[in-house]
Amino acid sequence: MNNLEFPVEISNLSKVYKSRNVNVNAVCDISLRVKVGEFLTIMGTSGSGKSTLLHLIAGLTTPTVGNVKINNNEIYNLSDSVRTRFRCRNIGVIFQSFNLIPTLTASENILLPSLIDGGVKIAREKLNDLLHTLEIYDRRHHRPDSLSGGEQQRVAIGRALLINPAIILADEPTGNLDSVNSENICKLLRELCDKENRTIVLVTHEKSVADWGDRKITLKDGRIVDEQIINSNKKEILA
Ligand SMILES: Nc1ncnc2c1ncn2[C@@H]1O[C@H](COP(=O)(O)OP(=O)(O)O)[C@@H](O)[C@H]1O
Ligand SMILES: [Mg+2]
Repeated sequence: MNNLEFPVEISNLSKVYKSRNVNVNAVCDISLRVKVGEFLTIMGTSGSGKSTLLHLIAGLTTPTVGNVKINNNEIYNLSDSVRTRFRCRNIGVIFQSFNLIPTLTASENILLPSLIDGGVKIAREKLNDLLHTLEIYDRRHHRPDSLSGGEQQRVAIGRALLINPAIILADEPTGNLDSVNSENICKLLRELCDKENRTIVLVTHEKSVADWGDRKITLKDGRIVDEQIINSNKKEILA
């Protein structure tokens, strides 16, 4: 892991989608920094620009204006292939739809990044540690269709954690889960911050999920319209 104070730094970031003759200003002039070990949540209604912002941070789409520094690297100065490899080695990304490979077992899905990127060497114990931490060790030989939604998301989180990323980005990770599984995933992410000092940016439209963070920002029409610090018991919001 990395000792930089701000592993995520965004300056004057804007994204305009041009479709036919209309321009959609999905993200408008956003600047923000995320501290190492901070759990930042981004709230907003559907269409407010949350996914676009998260994808810009992940290097999954190019900004119209502005730049994104991850661990002090300007990711949009990198070529597409170098940026992809940079992401795979530095950032764990979690999505609402778990994006698991249906023909692979839970263990194989978790190991996928090491199969794709030959440069990533994973010790056998690492997989077992992850399976235990995520409480899916007994399910390791199951394929996604025989796992519950909560278990599938934990496999997806295992895959994101395989490379031991200092930064975790999550786009509505609990969007397909019931309230019990949703809370378990939030607790797990909270622990990854508190115990392992990972930096997390999580996007959600649900206040109950956003309140697990240390700081919560709200987007509207692609702009930050509110920012709140959440106190240490993670529940009560300071004014
Ligand atoms: N690929 C795209 N092409 C055109 N418009 C898009 C595209 N993706 C998102 N948008 C538009 O950008 C705005 C923000 O979308 P999005 O970032 O997905 O918001 P959220 O995740 O908060 O629901 C919306 O108006 C959406 O319709
Ligand atoms: Mg979205």
